[in-house]
Order: sequence, then C-alpha cells, then structure tokens
Amino acid sequence: MLWVKAFHIIFVVSWFAGLFYLPRLFVNHAMTQDTAVSTQLQVMERKLYRFVTPIGVLALATGLWLWLGYGIAGDWLMAKLFLVVALIAYHLYCAKLLSDFKQGHNTRSHIWYRWFNELPVLILIAVVILVVVKPF
Ligand code: HEM
Repeated sequence: MLWVKAFHIIFVVSWFAGLFYLPRLFVNHAMTQDTAVSTQLQVMERKLYRFVTPIGVLALATGLWLWLGYGIAGDWLMAKLFLVVALIAYHLYCAKLLSDFKQGHNTRSHIWYRWFNELPVLILIAVVILVVVKPF
C-alpha cells in the first residue's frame, strides 16, 4: 500500500507542476502581440499538456487504487473527491483555452489568467489538509 501511496504523491506533485506552469504560459501568451512568440508558446503549451495529462490520469488511478483497492475512505475522502472533480474540470478547461489560443480566439486578459492560475493552489491546500488532517 505504501508503494501505491508513494507513487500517488509523486504523480500528484508532477500533475500540479503542469497545472501551475500551463496557465503561466497562458498569461504570457495573452500579453504578447509578437507572432513568433505566440507560435513558440503554442508549441510549449501543447507539449506540456500532452505530457501532464497521462500523469494526471496516473494520479487519479493510484488514488482510486488506495480507495477501492485498500478500502481507505471516510467523509474527508468524499469532500476530497468533490475537489478532485473540480481539478479535472480545470484540467479539461485548459484544453479549451489552449485551442482558443491556437485558433486566435482568445478573449481573456493576462489579468484574468493570473487569477485563473491561482485556482489549483487553493484546491491543493484544501485537498492536502483533508487527506493528511482528515478533519471529518
Ligand atoms: C480519484 C482521485 C483520488 C482519490 C480516490 C484519492 C484517494 C487517496 C487515498 C485513499 C489516500 C490514502 C490516505 C491515507 O492513507 O490516509 C490518498 C493519499 C493522498 N492523496 Fe489522494 N486521491 C485522489 C486524488 C488526489 C489528488 C488530486 C491529490 C492532490 C491534490 C491527492 C493528494 C493526496 C496526498 C498528498 C496523499 C498522502 C496523504 C498521506 O500520506 O497522509 N490525491 N489519496
């Protein structure tokens, strides 16, 4: 079980590295008028998204293994799963924003993307408190 939990944490950390960095690329993308910079950012965003998506799937799979395989559960996990669904929605919305930039349809400002970038931080804080402290 501890090996599964260790890899769960490794995949979670790696997933968040991508979820913190991708919106930062969007901030820079929304600020630039330079076509060469925009094209370069598109390539970076696409590669990062393709890299981090399977890692997110592995984070979820190892989490489900801990829950359904080892029977670790509680009200804290139900609250955690609610936040995990929000995180998955955030990840999928990033794909929509990525294609908006690709088609030149982005309407959001770099300020909006700076606030958007903070959402995973709030989810991470809440999930880690729930799973480590298990307040209920
Ligand atoms: C389908 C999604 C997920 C499920 C079912 C799940 C389930 C679990 C379970 C059952 C544990 C073991 C808890 C224990 O042994 O006390 C665990 C550990 C952990 N999970 Fe998840 N998890 C999921 C996604 C996530 C996500 C997205 C994050 C990060 C935001 C996360 C962060 C953690 C951490 C940090 C631990 C280690 C806690 C400890 O060692 O005390 N999990 N998870």
